[in-house]
Amino acid sequence: MKFQLTSTPLYEIKTDCLIVPVFTKQRGNWVATALDEKAQGAITKVIENGDINGELRQTLLLQAIPNIAAKHILLVGCGPAHKINAETFKQIVGTAIQAIKNTDIKHITSSLHTMDIKEHDANWQIRQFIMSMTHHTYQFNQFITKPIKTSKISDIHFWLSDTLSMPQARLAIKEGCAFANGISLCKDLANMPANICTPEFLEKQAFKLASSFSSISVETLDEAEMKKQNMNAFLSISQSSKHPGRMIVMHYQHDDASNQPPIVLIGKGITFDTGGLQLKPAASMLSMKLDMCGAATLFGVMKAIAELKLPLNVIVMIAAAENMIGRNSIRPSDVIKTHAGKTIEIISTDAEGRLVMCDTLSFCEIFNPAVVIDVATLTTAVISALGSVYSGLFSNHAPLAKSLIKAGIASADKVWELPIEDEAYRDLLKSNIADLTNASSTSKEAGAIAAACFLATFTKKYQWAHIDIAGTAHVRSNHQPTGRCVPLLLQYLINYANQMTKE
Ligand code: BES
Ligand code: MN
Ligand code: ZN
Repeated sequence: MKFQLTSTPLYEIKTDCLIVPVFTKQRGNWVATALDEKAQGAITKVIENGDINGELRQTLLLQAIPNIAAKHILLVGCGPAHKINAETFKQIVGTAIQAIKNTDIKHITSSLHTMDIKEHDANWQIRQFIMSMTHHTYQFNQFITKPIKTSKISDIHFWLSDTLSMPQARLAIKEGCAFANGISLCKDLANMPANICTPEFLEKQAFKLASSFSSISVETLDEAEMKKQNMNAFLSISQSSKHPGRMIVMHYQHDDASNQPPIVLIGKGITFDTGGLQLKPAASMLSMKLDMCGAATLFGVMKAIAELKLPLNVIVMIAAAENMIGRNSIRPSDVIKTHAGKTIEIISTDAEGRLVMCDTLSFCEIFNPAVVIDVATLTTAVISALGSVYSGLFSNHAPLAKSLIKAGIASADKVWELPIEDEAYRDLLKSNIADLTNASSTSKEAGAIAAACFLATFTKKYQWAHIDIAGTAHVRSNHQPTGRCVPLLLQYLINYANQMTKE
């Protein structure tokens, strides 16, 4: 799919389909009104006929419109203009794309980015359109052997009204494409089944990314090297599988940022989570190839920042392992010693994410990070707390949490902060025989917070945030990955880069 700009007057644009918003109240209908004047009232007529009244989720495809060069006009209902926000805008774009994606329309020109949305200007709307278009036409068809139908849409033009600046809109397209490509890469990796997507497969993907961008380099630690580093918490999980674990370190380095301390991003990459000896029940195991969504997100982020050439120094670490059941599985009640030297009593073999993460979190100190952010499908408890709307945010540094919340709102990929600072929560992880447990032995309460508190024990030396994406990374009803947190983290990194260049 190609995305471009056009400043030809709307009625003169030669395209298969012109996409035009209509609102329930007159306000905001200026694009439609301008076209209508040229088209001898053709749009007013269908509205007066009651064919469309501008309500959300309505569409109407017109053809052979007098004095209009476009073959079709797609009118898209948007509801009242003053009620549009980031969420409704996504719905509107989604509705428009659904209406045409299975038709013969190849070339479209959109004017949907002309809406008046608080804090989300036309450039944001262009970026969002590109992401929605990519999302609604995404298919994972690598394992389907018979030919399948794909959308014919190939060229998308954004209509450039007088109020938009060409360079700004160009940047919006560039960013939109980078975000969308990052999300698609995240989805591709997440969709890959666990018999193929092993820790070694993820390692290969990292080298593949590094071979396409000279700004990215890769180093990995195999199990023998992790043993030397005393990463026994990590190994206690990876040892259960015939697929050996990997700690994958991808380094993105822009020339202008060589003296910046790195931003370290860490992703949970459990390629399959059976639960270990405390085996998960059948229904909840089915989606557990998606337990590497944190890792998949960071692959997407890495690709996008390299595409955008952000002036940053970013290290992505992937904790890749499989949590299997077998004779090498760790037992509940075992005690292990972490890379940081703390001992852990295993209460649950299903609380494996925090075990691979804690060694990665303490290991990353060697990079002297400016900040560390980890992303993980860590707990079912965060699903109970926030559902699929917000990802759970935890941090030991208030300004960092604030920046992430801000980036979440700006990218419409929201996070909600939950507390970890209270000492009382740490009681959930008290052990009788070790420094701490990996899960509470007595209570199921505050599960997402308990997990975050566990991680917090290993992140005392730097500014850190943890994002629990168990509720947002995939859709529970159909096990489809969402790409959530790719937009959030990219927006955070763009803001960070802007901040650095200002200073
Ligand atoms: N990967 C799961 C969490 C998960 C569940 C993510 C469902 C997405 C959808 C994680 O490893 C896990 O099993 N967590 C346990 C921890 C508990 C045993 C302390 C949980 O939350 O139930
Ligand atoms: Mn688990
Ligand atoms: Zn897990």
